Amino acid sequence: MKLAEWINSSGVSARELASRVETTEATISRLRNGRAQPSMELAQRIAHATGGAVTPNDFLDSAPESTGAGSSGTLEAARVLLVISGGIAAYKSLDLIRRLRERGAAVRVVLTRAGAQFVTPLSVGALAGQAPHTDLFDAKSEFDVGHIRLARECDLVVVAPATADIMAKMAHGQADDLATAVLLATDAPLLLAPAMNPHMWASKATQRNVVQLTSDGAALVGPNRGEMAESGEAGIGRMAEVAEIVDAAERLLGGPGGKPLSGMRAVVTSGPTHEPIDPVRYIANRSSGKQGHAIAAALAKAGVDVTLVSGPVRIPDPQGVTAVHVESAREMLEAVEKALPADIGVFAAAVADWRSAAPADQKMKKETGVDTMALDLVQNPDILKLVSRGHKRPKLVIGFAAETQNVVENAMAKRKAKGADWIVANDVGHARGVMGGDVNAIHLVSQNGVEDWPEMDKDEVADRLVRAIAEHVTGKVSV
Ligand code: CTP
Repeated sequence: MKLAEWINSSGVSARELASRVETTEATISRLRNGRAQPSMELAQRIAHATGGAVTPNDFLDSAPESTGAGSSGTLEAARVLLVISGGIAAYKSLDLIRRLRERGAAVRVVLTRAGAQFVTPLSVGALAGQAPHTDLFDAKSEFDVGHIRLARECDLVVVAPATADIMAKMAHGQADDLATAVLLATDAPLLLAPAMNPHMWASKATQRNVVQLTSDGAALVGPNRGEMAESGEAGIGRMAEVAEIVDAAERLLGGPGGKPLSGMRAVVTSGPTHEPIDPVRYIANRSSGKQGHAIAAALAKAGVDVTLVSGPVRIPDPQGVTAVHVESAREMLEAVEKALPADIGVFAAAVADWRSAAPADQKMKKETGVDTMALDLVQNPDILKLVSRGHKRPKLVIGFAAETQNVVENAMAKRKAKGADWIVANDVGHARGVMGGDVNAIHLVSQNGVEDWPEMDKDEVADRLVRAIAEHVTGKVSV
């Protein structure tokens, strides 16, 4: 049975199926329309999730032909330089070459020495329609094209798979082989599809490199959660699906569907607030700002003009947003009001509910013989509530609910009490490590009910939320 028929007849939505097979809704949407072909692993997960009703062969029947010319052409005339580094996921890069060409892109490939251990120059060359470039010191290749021309004559560089090693080299500006020399010399947009063992991905060194690379302007797609090539290993580290990488490439090149929210304005709050007690002490909370910042970044990628109002955080401002840095809830409110009117408001900040009634001008000293101390607190303004009841209310107001018990019930009540359209509810109980961590499992509460999303990376939550926003605002499924 075709996937489209199954979705129509089974009562399982594309979104639900996407979470069951651990891919994005955009990918399911492409597969459903016959605009993409799944990897064998994804096809098998779909077969499993549909109880065998949709088999891998069903996709083969409907697979679009790899024709290059006369394609759907969403990357028409784009010059993509694909760097294949050495990871087991390199085999998927062969399919990636086909899919990029199918959309009309011209693909040049740089294959690292380690990459060539996984895929052969011959198969890469056959699919790309030209031999891959492999060696910085190959005289023929240097005279023929040369690493500087490779770096310059492209509209987009995609590194897939991006191993921990190549990311480390890039983050430090090393250039000791053709791939890293090209990556250092290029000023084209850069898309990385990391693929590595989950422990390597989670390591402090890799995470530092990711922060460096993203603040240098690189975009990341994936890695996804799932089983690894090593038996028994699972976690975040699997390379994004080919269709997701192609989508991300398209978005970076501003292709159709790439910027579904162009022309819209959004205000996003993020991070904690600090409420002064005296000149050296303040009331704060554990929010890192990762989720709010990721949402601001995802909105900006979707073409939105974003003002991010951030409390004190240790992470960099995302690319492409206007960031306003504040300390206290009252400053945050003032900055949000200045950023209005907006079409979309996302209130992800963990605003302190209380502040000191009278912050001391001087450091408060201990008094001999007095071993208790009382602090008078007053309530802070509720930014979400004031904005959603105010006369400059954005068309779509999204609040967050950080709960430690009865998560969904409390979120439903909070949605009504605060006048928000949607509430993104998450369990921030200590054991779950959401506050400050990299993953989040959320429930999206709206007037239509509750959607439970599987545990995902905060960036994935952000992308998915922005897709939901795009669907809601434009009435179209964004791919
Ligand atoms: N919020 C806000 N201004 C405040 C308090 C909260 O804008 N002064 C917003 C948050 O950004 C979030 C939502 O309100 O979007 C919910 O915040 P949360 O702390 O979970 O709820 P509270 O309103 O503080 O309720 P409670 O402490 O009773 O759980």
